[in-house]
Amino acid sequence: MNNYDSLVVVGAQWGDEGKGKVIDFLAAKANVVARFQGGDNAGHTVVYGANIFKLHHIPSGILYPDCLSLLGNGIVINPLVLLNELLELEKRGISTKNLRISEKAHLIMVYHQAYDQANEELLGDQKIGTTGRGIGPAYADKALRRGLRAIDLADIKVFKERLSQILPLQNHLLKSAYGHKGYDLDQLVEMYRPAVEKLAPLVVDTSRLLADSFSKDKKILFEGAQGALLDIDHGTYPFVTSSSTVAAAAGSGSGLGPQYTSQVLGVMKAYTTRVGEGPFPSEDHGEAGELLRNRGAEFGTTTGRPRRCGWFDAVIARYATRINGLTGLAITKLDVLSGLETLNVAVNYRCDNNLTREFPAGMVKLEKCKPVYEAFPGWHEDLSGVRTMKDLPAAARHYLEALENTIEVPIELISVGPDRTQTIVRPGSFLAGWYGN
Ligand code: IMP
Repeated sequence: MNNYDSLVVVGAQWGDEGKGKVIDFLAAKANVVARFQGGDNAGHTVVYGANIFKLHHIPSGILYPDCLSLLGNGIVINPLVLLNELLELEKRGISTKNLRISEKAHLIMVYHQAYDQANEELLGDQKIGTTGRGIGPAYADKALRRGLRAIDLADIKVFKERLSQILPLQNHLLKSAYGHKGYDLDQLVEMYRPAVEKLAPLVVDTSRLLADSFSKDKKILFEGAQGALLDIDHGTYPFVTSSSTVAAAAGSGSGLGPQYTSQVLGVMKAYTTRVGEGPFPSEDHGEAGELLRNRGAEFGTTTGRPRRCGWFDAVIARYATRINGLTGLAITKLDVLSGLETLNVAVNYRCDNNLTREFPAGMVKLEKCKPVYEAFPGWHEDLSGVRTMKDLPAAARHYLEALENTIEVPIELISVGPDRTQTIVRPGSFLAGWYGN
């Protein structure tokens, strides 16, 4: 145990677990919220009374005037999208003065989006189903050591100089490999000028800022994006995103050692969803899947695509627990399950006639795995007004206990609706302490 007051919040399924809502709730008690990976492929919806905020780049902490919001070095930033997001928030009366961007964060440029979309087309029915935001190509350029970084936004002259060093190669690749006409340097500079002017003052050494915050005993929340099964190493490769989405990335993606990040909350939906292509063992193609999609409003925040829906998968949950080192769980959208007669939970897989508790690495094997379900009785009561564990119907408590027993990590938070107030924190848990209960 260390004495650092911090919490890493990560998705423990295929993204869209409701992290935005959970992070927004916890950010009320944080001094700093730091994102450490991903880009504008993320879509966080925060509902506060009649206000709905859809954030892609900016951490949820921005909605709290005294909270510092950081974009760490592990992020990829589309300056045009970030500019729009800032202007949109400002138009709605939200101050954005507390946003800071790591000098080392990489930039997603228009040509990255062009590559992303062209790659998907070339892959045809083998496509990944990306968000089309240029995430993979931006991380690829980072690894190939030919990316632009936020520090290159220092002023328009620096930006132009750096772009002029990189653009000829990008244009060559676009033209020769993709049949694209390429980009003109001066036109690009003009296109990016407003973003450079707005973002330049926000670019700082966020690692130093975080270390200083820790030394002043501030509470730091690390905000993960996507989810465990979209992790570039541990996810359902190649149907993954291009960053490390697990908790260990909170340190490397924000310029800190691992000792600052010992508490890890894994967010899981009370059922499972996935957008994009790739295997999904507990997917339900029938009535239950349809009901979950409609009742849970399961349509992507970033792309609007309908999400694939299915039952809770404990094989995934146990795997996500191990690769993240989860110390607590947040179960979201429990209210969506009301009215289902029976709830299935995948407790094991049957793969090639072998029963396994482990999540396979190979997609060919995973495609063939069939979930082994345990059935639990459902409940009919509306949960949206429930605010304590003991007021949940007995069947809902039983369902949660069963999840907890198989995952072997305590459930610390339950969400029963999109609003901040529709949240139950377990008394005596780490989160209750965080929240001062
Ligand atoms: P990319 O991150 O746009 O390259 O997309 C790669 C895969 O990750 C696709 O299956 C996307 O649907 C998925 N993905 C990326 N970001 C998110 C997210 O925030 N939520 C859910 N899925 C995501």
